Amino acid sequence: MLLALAGLKGGTGRTTLAVALAAEARARGRRTLLVDLDPRGDAHAWSLSANSQAPTTLRLPGASPGQAERIRGLAFGHDLTVIDTPSDPEVLAVVAEIAELTLVPCRPSPMDAWAAVDTVETCLRGRGALNFRMQVAVVPNAVELRSTIGAALPNDLRALGLPVLECAVARRVAHQEAMAHGSTASLDAPASAAARDINELLDAIEALQARYGDMRHLHH
Ligand SMILES: Nc1ncnc2c1ncn2[C@@H]1O[C@H](COP(=O)(O)OP(=O)(O)O)[C@@H](O)[C@H]1O
Ligand SMILES: [Mg+2]
Repeated sequence: MLLALAGLKGGTGRTTLAVALAAEARARGRRTLLVDLDPRGDAHAWSLSANSQAPTTLRLPGASPGQAERIRGLAFGHDLTVIDTPSDPEVLAVVAEIAELTLVPCRPSPMDAWAAVDTVETCLRGRGALNFRMQVAVVPNAVELRSTIGAALPNDLRALGLPVLECAVARRVAHQEAMAHGSTASLDAPASAAARDINELLDAIEALQARYGDMRHLHH
């Protein structure tokens, strides 16, 4: 499956979730590839500091010609290819062409919600003719569990007409601490609350994958 973490606004948690999901998928024994399309190269930098438990991470910055085909080719033979992206509309267009599932992380703030609306609309509009089955969903991220706005976030997003995943990722320093030493919360402490959020998110992704099938098989 080609899974993209995308958004037209930065700082929403794309890299944090891309790295965490890819590492957890690999820990589950899935053949996993992480592709970093962000010229900043944060996911790639993480992989360089990570230990042998990290998934293979390739750096392919930007939306160069042939990028969609290149990624499709690299994804071949992997169970899960996670694509981390910058806030660049051209890269979002590449994602819309090839991703089977695009997740848009969204923090509990109006600016994030508005950007999520833009991202979802752009993504669905840009979906390639061959990629009409692509799913797009918003993932509430960095949610402060005890805050009113955090608790209301999923419903507020649905009120904007957005498709929202059932699971949310709470704001926890474990994600930041793990990233700082080339790990992830679920590799560091598999029984932690931060790890549970990532596991539930990966469960939801795999359930969607099972339900909609693998696009690569449909297109060949
Ligand atoms: N669930 C979370 N809990 C705590 N901190 C988070 C969480 N998600 C993201 N962050 C922090 O928020 C900042 C932006 O996240 P990042 O993944 O770099 O966003 P993006 O890649 O979308 O720009 C980083 O400092 C990251 O550590
Ligand atoms: Mg990033």
